[in-house]
Amino acid sequence: MRFFVNVDHVATVRQARRTDEPDPVAAAVACERAGADGITIHLREDRRHILDDDVMRMCAAIATHLNLELATADDIVKLATDLKPHHATFVPERREEITTEGGLDLTVDSGRPDPRLKHAIATLRGVGVRVSLFIDPDKTSIQRAAELGVEAVELHTGEYANQYRDTNAPLERLQEAANLAEAAGLAVHAGHGLTYRNVQLVAAIPEIEELNIGHSIVSRSIMVGIESAVSEMRALIAAARVD
Ligand code: PXP
Repeated sequence: MRFFVNVDHVATVRQARRTDEPDPVAAAVACERAGADGITIHLREDRRHILDDDVMRMCAAIATHLNLELATADDIVKLATDLKPHHATFVPERREEITTEGGLDLTVDSGRPDPRLKHAIATLRGVGVRVSLFIDPDKTSIQRAAELGVEAVELHTGEYANQYRDTNAPLERLQEAANLAEAAGLAVHAGHGLTYRNVQLVAAIPEIEELNIGHSIVSRSIMVGIESAVSEMRALIAAARVD
């Protein structure tokens, strides 16, 4: 299983003072030293944490893979097309949200996929970027993602993270969605809201091949340093994995 660390919130702390520290690129390199298989960043339209310059510096500095999260804004798709990160994950984006709240709605425009999304997928795939779609773990979203011809889906684990103490239903939905996505020929990623307490049940789903985890790791890094925070998470994932 690949383990990607999302370093957006290192940049969130920097942007609280609009200074140059802490540096998300230096943090990403430390994450790699501690065993991360890749780095994830989200270049949001409002540039609230990661900035264009971070994306450029990140591409040059890291030795593993970059997963760039983005919506379909033209300037951001253009930057991604120029920089060609290893993979790009399309996410929904609303300015007023605190974080990405749900998966992409692939039924916009009266049941047909959003033409902007279709075009952005084709543009990035055309320059060799592997494209993933962040979706809720449901059958329709998986079918639509497969029809869009992307390489992967990232299953939104937020519902699981909010409810795992009370009910198994969200975990069962994730398992079912992972089976469906794999059967549809899609690589399966997962993330959002995963923590040191809840990661293992998701990491144990065999069809999931990549996890993206951010807030919990950056939070723990304040207490123990980012390399320890990453290696603790890495160890939990490894222990949960039976393959
Ligand atoms: N995956 C996607 C698509 C996301 O947008 C985010 C949040 O930026 C994450 C994973 C990581 O979520 P968290 O910060 O809750 O670990």
